[in-house]
Amino acid sequence: MESSVSTENNYTSKSRNCKEGVHPETLPTAEEMNSVVSKGIEHAQENFRAKPDDIFLCSFPKSGTTWLKALSFATATRTRFHNSENPLLTKSPHDCIPFLEIYFNNNPTMHESVDLPLWSTHIPYSSLPKSIIDSSCKIVYICRDPKDTFISLWHFRKRIESHNPGIIFEEAFELFCKGSSFYAPYWEHFLGYWNASLEFPDRVLFLKYEEMMEDTALYLKRLAEFIGYPFSLQEENEGVVQNIVDLCSFENLSNLEVNKSGKRDCIVMNNNAFFRKGKVGDWKNYLTSEMAERLDKIIEEKFAGSGFKF
Ligand code: A3P
Repeated sequence: MESSVSTENNYTSKSRNCKEGVHPETLPTAEEMNSVVSKGIEHAQENFRAKPDDIFLCSFPKSGTTWLKALSFATATRTRFHNSENPLLTKSPHDCIPFLEIYFNNNPTMHESVDLPLWSTHIPYSSLPKSIIDSSCKIVYICRDPKDTFISLWHFRKRIESHNPGIIFEEAFELFCKGSSFYAPYWEHFLGYWNASLEFPDRVLFLKYEEMMEDTALYLKRLAEFIGYPFSLQEENEGVVQNIVDLCSFENLSNLEVNKSGKRDCIVMNNNAFFRKGKVGDWKNYLTSEMAERLDKIIEEKFAGSGFKF
């Protein structure tokens, strides 16, 4: 690896993420988050001008966004930083790659250039700013079994809404089955990006959390190739791929001080809310077989004829 560039100069999260915090002292409520997200989407739709080399990491919440950000960031910056100096060791992946909608909530008319062309978003494909659809920039989507997504979302909400102890598991499940969410029903979210990946395979890469967990190195190489930072044979032989897999593993990231006790810069939120178990199939510990069957049936019906399978 080349010698490093100072992390200080390149990844001051404030320069990328925020000029003004949302609520500097308190956790956002669901209503506040909804307002941040809606305003951010509106501003991004009006003002974001995608560049051809921009890369968008897209997902439904709790599908592996944090992991995808870490893998993409480590891959795209691997010649800038020694492993021991990677900003991921001292910053949340969310402070290394901004959410488009949160960035635009804080910087409604942003036109300044950013230092790395990596963005992330939970915005559904059909609501992406037009310039993203019209440009030739790359989109990577990560999806996850909705049963695990729901459980992850449930725990996340409990953590960030500790001031709102009234969320009842069965009610949250009912709402999820009905497709109630900040962004879109999960099936619409998946299908929008899935169909785009079929229509524009050179522009949209569709990844599955479960497959990535099974063989992270294989999918990391696919991801790197797709976003334009392919690994050379020499790098592979030198163990660069495995180093990134290890750096970004749940075990490693979740045990870093910044992810155990740090807070997000823009929206006051504990970084540890993004790390829970990082396992496939945790739903079995929470959903009854009837609940699991119900979600599976919804997926089967909504995805019929799409060619999509979990
Ligand atoms: P669980 O709640 O099931 O543990 P998102 O990043 O989209 O918010 O998704 C969060 C989920 O991804 C959480 O799932 C979290 O634990 C898991 N996760 C976070 N970092 C991960 C990593 N490096 N590898 C695998 N899973 C990770």
